[in-house]
Amino acid sequence: MFAITGITGKVGGEVARNLLASNQPVRAVVRDLRKGEPWAQLGCDLVRADINDAGALTSAFKGAESVFVLVPPNFDPSPDFHEARTTAATLKSAIEAARPGRVVYLSTIGAQATQSNLLTQHTIIEQVLGELSMPITFLRPGWFMENCSWDIASATNDGVISSFLQPIDKPVPMVATADVARVAAELLQETWNGRRVVELEGLHRVTPHEIATTFADLLGRPVRMEPVPRETWESLFKSQGMKNPIPRIKMLDGFNEGWIEFEGDVAGSRKGKIGLQAVLQTLIELR
Ligand SMILES: NC(=O)c1ccc[n+]([C@@H]2O[C@H](COP(=O)([O-])OP(=O)(O)OC[C@H]3O[C@@H](n4cnc5c(N)ncnc54)[C@H](OP(=O)(O)O)[C@@H]3O)[C@@H](O)[C@H]2O)c1
Repeated sequence: MFAITGITGKVGGEVARNLLASNQPVRAVVRDLRKGEPWAQLGCDLVRADINDAGALTSAFKGAESVFVLVPPNFDPSPDFHEARTTAATLKSAIEAARPGRVVYLSTIGAQATQSNLLTQHTIIEQVLGELSMPITFLRPGWFMENCSWDIASATNDGVISSFLQPIDKPVPMVATADVARVAAELLQETWNGRRVVELEGLHRVTPHEIATTFADLLGRPVRMEPVPRETWESLFKSQGMKNPIPRIKMLDGFNEGWIEFEGDVAGSRKGKIGLQAVLQTLIELR
């Protein structure tokens, strides 16, 4: 049996669909049982556990051949990242107590970076879970193409998308969440020893400019990218309600300056199958 956290979200849901399609038994780990009901109807075992509840997670992971661990995104962490430290300790104690056969943790590109930034949350969790005795894979995908869902309204209504990824002709390692989930489902069914890292991006790197031209093709209207000046980011993010925008700003700097990169660079990453156009087409249809 495969225990899947984050199953009501993008990646976790698709991981579960991949496993069910291979006739594998799935335990849906949800924080709200009502949201898990569709998974029960698909034949999944349903258990309730918050990512910060060690007792509930222990029950959720017990008896699992493999567990897929997804920590929900936190775009506005405390300066000392204490939320990630707490989650890491909770996950470690639950996994140690439940002793599943193997673990696949959804991490990120750049988890090995030494400069503090938003992705440091995954660095912290990788370090703590890396101490576990059972086999663990850290799956490190690039920037999700689905982040473009935030741009659909401005592309459609104004024909202008604000870009924090700069310069707008710089290729960025991106990947479709369906590719992330497909690879995660494959990894969950493999056997290996110790700690390993799997890095994953799409077929080719994507520039912000290409996102605009692809939207233009799909929407049948002109769309352009407009870089947001770096010196305005802090006040802009604060005006949007962020208390501590520095980690997010440093993450964007990391992508723009190139120090958020795969450990094995472009040559060392696995490649997905799904391109930007297919992802944007789906996002437009779902809007
Ligand atoms: N966006 C990117 O470019 C990118 C790139 C690399 C890695 N990542 C990583 O990918 C992960 C996000 O994956 P995603 O996009 O699939 O997430 P998502 O669609 O935002 O879904 C988040 C999932 O987490 C669950 N969740 C939220 N709070 C929870 C809690 N307190 N306890 C237990 N479950 C909780 C949600 O359940 P509910 O339905 O109950 O809310 C949902 O199932 C993050 O760790 C992020 O850092 C993202």
